[in-house]
Amino acid sequence: MATRKRFNPKPKKSGLARPPAIAIEAAVAHSGVMVPHSFAPLLFAGQHFHALADDALYWPRHKALLVADLHLEKASWYAKSGQMLPPYDSQATLERLGRLIDDYDVEHVYSLGDNYHDSAGEARLDAAAGQMLRALTARVDWHWITGNHDEQLDGCWGGNVVAQSAVDGLLLCHEPDPARMIPQICGHFHPKFRIQNRGRLVSRRCYMMSDSLLIMPAFGALTGGLDASDAVYGDVFGAEGYQAVVPVNGKALSFPPECRSVKAKAVS
Ligand SMILES: [Fe+2]
Repeated sequence: MATRKRFNPKPKKSGLARPPAIAIEAAVAHSGVMVPHSFAPLLFAGQHFHALADDALYWPRHKALLVADLHLEKASWYAKSGQMLPPYDSQATLERLGRLIDDYDVEHVYSLGDNYHDSAGEARLDAAAGQMLRALTARVDWHWITGNHDEQLDGCWGGNVVAQSAVDGLLLCHEPDPARMIPQICGHFHPKFRIQNRGRLVSRRCYMMSDSLLIMPAFGALTGGLDASDAVYGDVFGAEGYQAVVPVNGKALSFPPECRSVKAKAVS
């Protein structure tokens, strides 16, 4: 098995900042356990957020944690059709979410839809994961915003089930409302940003952002992604300019959605 080269953090002689693609690779290599809860300040619609490396947004002004697309019980949904996946996705997702709630001053959680892979997922949650979830929903003010995968959610493990929520002039929802009367934060698309670096494809979950719409990455352990360059985003954002935003080493780097190698620009 080939030995993976270590990333060399020494600056180049030119003194220029580290190329963003390499910075992304370093962040990927050190994500999770090595750099828990690193974040980039992110300004959206006049509100200050922390874009966590853990695919969640923390909103300090409201002590709120925002996540999207947990897709709990996805593995058990596939198992019903004979496609066997390791059945630990719900527990892994909830443990990761619990760590964020432990480590931040969280009073409110907004989960922006597709909380379960299907509406019956709540009933399939095993006792251990269910107890974990019940303990979390008892600790904080928890809002389940329904998505296209879990429209019939009833919140049997605690928390309030709503179609959408408006907080401080922002609409929190699953799919963007085309009318976009007020700025929106949503999920649904599971955006991913991919870039080539020295012949290797580096991929990260990302945000997609314009002045009036912020699409969050999927949080779930077993979720796929839609490439930032996909034409779907052009339809969603319309004439408004938009960017792929990747939190890297404390900065929210923005990239043109179709970018594959050009320089990134810090947006906050
Ligand atoms: Fe989803």
